[in-house]
Amino acid sequence: MIDATGMPQTAVVIGGSSQIARDTLLLLADRRLRSVVLAGRGEAALESTAAELRARGVEEVMTRYLDVTDTDRLDAFAKATACELDTIDLLLVAAGDLCAFDIDALDARTVSRAVVTNFAGPAATVVAFLGTLRAQGAGRIVILSSVAGVRVRKANLVYGAAKAGIDGFAVGLADALEGTGVEVTVVRPGFVRTKMTSGLKPAPLAVESSDVAEAIVKGLETGVPVIWVPPVLRAVFAFMRLFPRVLWRKIPG
Ligand SMILES: NC(=O)c1ccc[n+]([C@@H]2O[C@H](COP(=O)([O-])OP(=O)(O)OC[C@H]3O[C@@H](n4cnc5c(N)ncnc54)[C@H](OP(=O)(O)O)[C@@H]3O)[C@@H](O)[C@H]2O)c1
Repeated sequence: MIDATGMPQTAVVIGGSSQIARDTLLLLADRRLRSVVLAGRGEAALESTAAELRARGVEEVMTRYLDVTDTDRLDAFAKATACELDTIDLLLVAAGDLCAFDIDALDARTVSRAVVTNFAGPAATVVAFLGTLRAQGAGRIVILSSVAGVRVRKANLVYGAAKAGIDGFAVGLADALEGTGVEVTVVRPGFVRTKMTSGLKPAPLAVESSDVAEAIVKGLETGVPVIWVPPVLRAVFAFMRLFPRVLWRKIPG
């Protein structure tokens, strides 16, 4: 059950080896977290986060194989997971992957895979859990979007478009679930130094994964529907949305 300060006792994490998810869970472990299901593809990476959570006192940490692009398996996965936890207080959706940046490096297969990994798969996973969450009449879904989806740049066209999709889905879902007791939070980080961005030149206003984790935990406390990390990006993108396209398309990678 989510406590009066918004802190979950149980969590299911999609993309359970994500660095942002790991840092968020470590903070939640210091609060009320007691049971977690980490779902993802890399057993060793999931186990590494699981071991850290157990060392922080989380009583029950389970790791489960899940590839969000395998959409035929998602309903069965959600049902099995719901049976493993008494309730699901938090569904944290962190699965995602950058895609080729250069238009010349894109092909149909790469584009399709990137859209399923960053949009269709995460959205379908959330939908697979909706029956359980709605039956509980409580719970919070936190979806990792990105500022890349707020206004898509040519430099990361496919990733940005997929993030625009998952962001729109999350905002619309929050409206659709109004009054059910299930709430949705959208997280819009800028550049975060994690394994996803290793080797890339940090963008201005780059942050650490621990900064995103702190913002998510604060957002759980306050119940805000949208979290920008760092917060100044909200104002920056309000302005950037108004940039004429002729200037926008000149922004380098
Ligand atoms: N880092 C940034 O600059 C940044 C900025 C804005 C938003 N975000 C978003 O924040 C989220 C977390 O990213 P992160 O920075 O923590 O990077 P990360 O450590 O690389 O985490 C991404 C996670 O997604 C998992 N994943 C990828 N494809 C998957 C699939 N098909 N099925 C299941 N899991 C899959 C990866 O696991 P495996 O590949 O090991 O299976 C990995 O654990 C992502 O949604 C990302 O788009 C990141």
